[in-house]
Amino acid sequence: MIARGEGAWLQTAGGERILDAISSWWVVTHGHRHPRIVAAIKAQIDALDQVIFAGCTHQPAEDLARGLIAIAPKGLAHVFYSDSGSTSVEVALKMALGFWRNSGKPRSRIIALEHAYHGDTIGTMSAGARGVFNAAYAPLLFEVERLAFPSSGRESETFAALDRLAKDAAALIVEPLLLGAGGMLTYGAEALAEMARICARHGTLLIADEVLTGFGRTGSLFACEQAGIVPDILCLAKGLTGGSLPLAATLCKPEIFEAHYSPDRTRTFFHSSSYTANPVACAAANANLAIWREEPVRERIAALAAMQEERLGRFRGDVRFRHIRRIGTVTALDLKTPDPGYLAALGPDLAKFFRQRGILLRPLGNVIYVLPPYCITAEELDLVYAAIAEAAGTFA
Ligand SMILES: Cc1ncc(COP(=O)(O)O)c(C=O)c1O
Repeated sequence: MIARGEGAWLQTAGGERILDAISSWWVVTHGHRHPRIVAAIKAQIDALDQVIFAGCTHQPAEDLARGLIAIAPKGLAHVFYSDSGSTSVEVALKMALGFWRNSGKPRSRIIALEHAYHGDTIGTMSAGARGVFNAAYAPLLFEVERLAFPSSGRESETFAALDRLAKDAAALIVEPLLLGAGGMLTYGAEALAEMARICARHGTLLIADEVLTGFGRTGSLFACEQAGIVPDILCLAKGLTGGSLPLAATLCKPEIFEAHYSPDRTRTFFHSSSYTANPVACAAANANLAIWREEPVRERIAALAAMQEERLGRFRGDVRFRHIRRIGTVTALDLKTPDPGYLAALGPDLAKFFRQRGILLRPLGNVIYVLPPYCITAEELDLVYAAIAEAAGTFA
C-alpha cells in the first residue's frame, strides 16, 4: 500500500521508503510530484476540470498541441489526444487504415516487429508479439506480418523481409531503438533509419510507438531523432505528463490529417473517448514541456546515462549474466537461468528479493532492468546495483 511519492522514492502507508527504480512502470520521468507539475495540476483543477472535447477546445489542449509540434520530429503537424499508450497506438493503426481508405487505394496489412509490445487492447495486442499475455484472446486478434528483430549483425535479414512485405502494406509499426516489454531489447539507429527508408520507398506508413522511448529514455528527447527519421505517425504517452496523469497523443503528418478532414462525414476520423484531452492532464503535460525547455533535463539525462554505464561496468565479464546492455538512461542484464523468458520462475522471486531491500525493480522474467526517474542520485543508483549484485549471489 503506497501512500506517498517524492522524487525517486515511494513511501508505504506504514512509512517504509521504496526506491522506484522502474519509474512506476516507466512513466515517471522527472521524479514523483515534480513541484511544477503539481502546481500546474492544482491551478488547472481550480479553473476547468473536464469538458467534452468534441465541438469544444481549451487552452491547455491548444498549448500542448503547439508545444508538441514544436519539439516533435519536423513534419509532424497534427495532434490527436487519447488517454493511454494503448489508445495512442489504436489511434495510430486506425489513422493508417483510414488514410489508405480515404485515399482510394485501400491497404490494410500491418507489419510489426518480433518481440513487439504495443499495449493490451485488441488492436495493440494484435500488433504485439503473441504469447502468454494474449493467448486467451487469440480468436479476437487480427493477423499482422511479423518482421525478424533487427539484432546486431542480423539486420539484413530484417531489411530483406521488410522490402518484400512493405509493398502495398498499410504501415510498419515499431518501438524505435528499444523494445520494452519484449525484454528491453535494443537495436541500432542505422537499422531504424534503413527500415524508414524501405517504408518510404514503398509508400508504406511508418508508425513510431514512442510510448516508452519518448521524453528522454533513450538519451534523446525522442528515439527517432537518433536515426534522423520523421515517422508518419508518432505515439506518445507515459512521460508526456512527466508520469503524473494519464494522457496520450498521436501525432501525424499533414497528408494523413488531410485524408480525413472533409465535410463528407464518411471520411471522418472516428475515435473519441470521454476524457479526451482532459484539461488537468494537458496542464500537467504543458508543465512537463516547460521543464524540458527551462530545466537542464538533457544534461541530467546525459549524467544519468554515464552513471548507469559506470555501474553496469562491474557486471561486464560476470559469467552469471549475459547480454549486458544500456541505451540512454536504461540498463538491462539477463541473469542466467535454465528457464529464461518472461515466465522464468526467477522473476517473481527476484522482484520480492528487491522489494525486501526497499527497491522497486520488476524483472521481465530473468531480465533485470533499471529504468529510473531522471532525478535519481549516484548514491541511490548504488543501492540498486548493490541489490542486483546480491541477487546474483543468491539466485545465479
Ligand atoms: C512501447 C509501448 N507501447 C504501448 C504501451 C501501452 O501503454 P499503456 O500501458 O499506457 O496503455 C506500452 C506500455 O508499456 C509500451 O511500452
